[in-house]
Amino acid sequence: MDWGIRNRLSRIFQPQDGRTLMLAVDHGYFLGPTTRLEDPRKTITPLLPYADAIMLTRGILQTCVDPTATVPVVLRVSGGATIVGRDLANETITTSVRDAVRLNASAVALSIFVGSDYEHQTLANLARLIDEATPYGIPVLAVTAVGKELEKRDARYLALACRVAAELGAHFVKTYYCEDFEKVVGGCPVPIVIAGGPKLESDMDVLRLAYDALQGGAAGLDMGRNIWQHDHPVAMIRAIRAIVHEGATPRQAYELLRDLTQASASVGRV
Ligand code: 5RP
Repeated sequence: MDWGIRNRLSRIFQPQDGRTLMLAVDHGYFLGPTTRLEDPRKTITPLLPYADAIMLTRGILQTCVDPTATVPVVLRVSGGATIVGRDLANETITTSVRDAVRLNASAVALSIFVGSDYEHQTLANLARLIDEATPYGIPVLAVTAVGKELEKRDARYLALACRVAAELGAHFVKTYYCEDFEKVVGGCPVPIVIAGGPKLESDMDVLRLAYDALQGGAAGLDMGRNIWQHDHPVAMIRAIRAIVHEGATPRQAYELLRDLTQASASVGRV
């Protein structure tokens, strides 16, 4: 693999264990000021020290992240549809590779909507982005998006979507954890990171999801709402980080979360 691609990937996937904990805060590009991300700077700033990379749009990067921040940026470069529009899958490329270079992105991210009316269009977007980004040594993250059709998230569908992304040349793929997840990993020759999805019912559910995904072969997480919609987001990201990089079990991570949460009660919210 090209030196520039490998170098940028090694900023995101920590060389000591090959894993990553990415913080996803790109949701506003189709959801607007969604709950707890109304003021992105306020949400993002305390979490940055615990994230291996941050996934967001150029608008939020430019307005809400200090340019002196050292966190690697995975720049969301697809969009053009919103939750109130006709079809979330009708995406185009919204940010050029030239702009990604200007913003010192460590990778660019784009959604594909396999099986949707916009399957061809979004796969063509991915192929074009890979053609344009690769000569600059910028890795491409393909996001296997399902829009509002959350029920699509089974191994058969996700294995197909991840494999198609890898076949087109994506350097890593973001998908969902599911039953028989090893089939998804087994059919995908590039690293997989897992989205958290909508907020889960309990903290233990989130920690188990993280643990099971890594046990099942994921190279990391790219999590959003289950971190920053938590009442104690810093405690939650630290607990998840313990699973990703320190070999913690869900139980150990839960105890850490509880201790950090209790400790914060006397000194203010974490
Ligand atoms: C939207 C995205 C989000 O970044 C992704 O869904 C991760 O966030 P969450 O953990 O909240 O699902 O890629 O297409």
